[in-house]
Amino acid sequence: MNTVLTVEDLGISFGSNHVLKCLNYEVYENEVLGVIGPNGAGKTVMLDILTGILKPTKGRIIFQGEDITNKTITKRCKNGFGRTFQVPRSFEKMTVLENVMVGGVYGDRLHERDAQKKAVEVLEMIGLAEKKDIFAGKLSLLDRKRLEIGRALASNPKVLMFDEVAGGLTESEIAKILEIVRMIKKQGISIVWIEHVLHTMLEGTDRVMCLAEGRDVICGCPVDVMRSKEVSDVYLGAEEE
Ligand SMILES: Nc1ncnc2c1ncn2[C@@H]1O[C@H](COP(=O)(O)OP(=O)(O)O)[C@@H](O)[C@H]1O
Ligand SMILES: [Mg+2]
Repeated sequence: MNTVLTVEDLGISFGSNHVLKCLNYEVYENEVLGVIGPNGAGKTVMLDILTGILKPTKGRIIFQGEDITNKTITKRCKNGFGRTFQVPRSFEKMTVLENVMVGGVYGDRLHERDAQKKAVEVLEMIGLAEKKDIFAGKLSLLDRKRLEIGRALASNPKVLMFDEVAGGLTESEIAKILEIVRMIKKQGISIVWIEHVLHTMLEGTDRVMCLAEGRDVICGCPVDVMRSKEVSDVYLGAEEE
C-alpha cells in the first residue's frame, strides 16, 4: 500500500495546554482513515495543523513524499488537500453552484468555465444537482454538509478531511453521507474522517485511529479498534469526568 500522508511526532501546545503531545500515523492511498477520540482531544486542532491553519510546536507532515510542514494553506490546497469544517462554512449569499465553483477556481486554479463544469459533475455526484441555483443559506443541514464536501471535492483533492460531517444528522441522512464517502473512495481519493457518530466509523472506514491525551492510542481495523481496551478506557474515562 502506498502512503500519501505521514504524520511524524506531531505536537502542539497552547501555553501550558499540551493538546497534541506526540502523534504518529500514516494515511494510505485510497483509504478512509477514521479518527475518533473524546471531546477536546485535539481532533480539530490536528486537522487545522494538517491544512496549515495552525503551526505545530513540533513534528513533520509529509505529503506525497514532500515535507509540507511549513507550506501555506493555499499551497496545501493546490497540492491536493481538501477539508470540511465542523460547523459548515458555506457562502450563504452565493448559490450552491457558485459555492462549489469556489473550490475549483481557488483550490484547483480552474478557469471559470471549467470550474462550472467541474462543479456540475460534483453536484451530480453528491446529490445536489437539483438545488444548484438555490442560495446556500437556504439549505438544510444535510445539504450544507453535502455542499462542504462538494466544495472540497471541486478542488480536485488527493486527500479529503472531514470534521464530523455526520454530526447532527438523522440515521437516514447519515446513510447518504456514507454513500458519498463510498463514491469518493471509488475515485481513488483518501479520506481522513473525524467522527463522533461511532457506527459510521465501523461502516465507512478502512482503519480507525483513536486520539486521546495527545497521542494516537490505537490504530487498526475498525472492529478491533472499537472493541479494544484502549478505546473503552478512553470513552469510559471521559464519561466518568
Ligand atoms: N486556537 C486555539 N488556541 C488555544 N487553544 C485551542 C485552540 N484551538 C483549540 N484549542 C484547545 O485545544 C483543545 C482541543 O480542541 P479540539 O481540537 O477542538 O478538540 P476536538 O477533539 O473535540 O475536536 C481544547 O482544549 C481547545 O480549547
Ligand atoms: Mg472537533
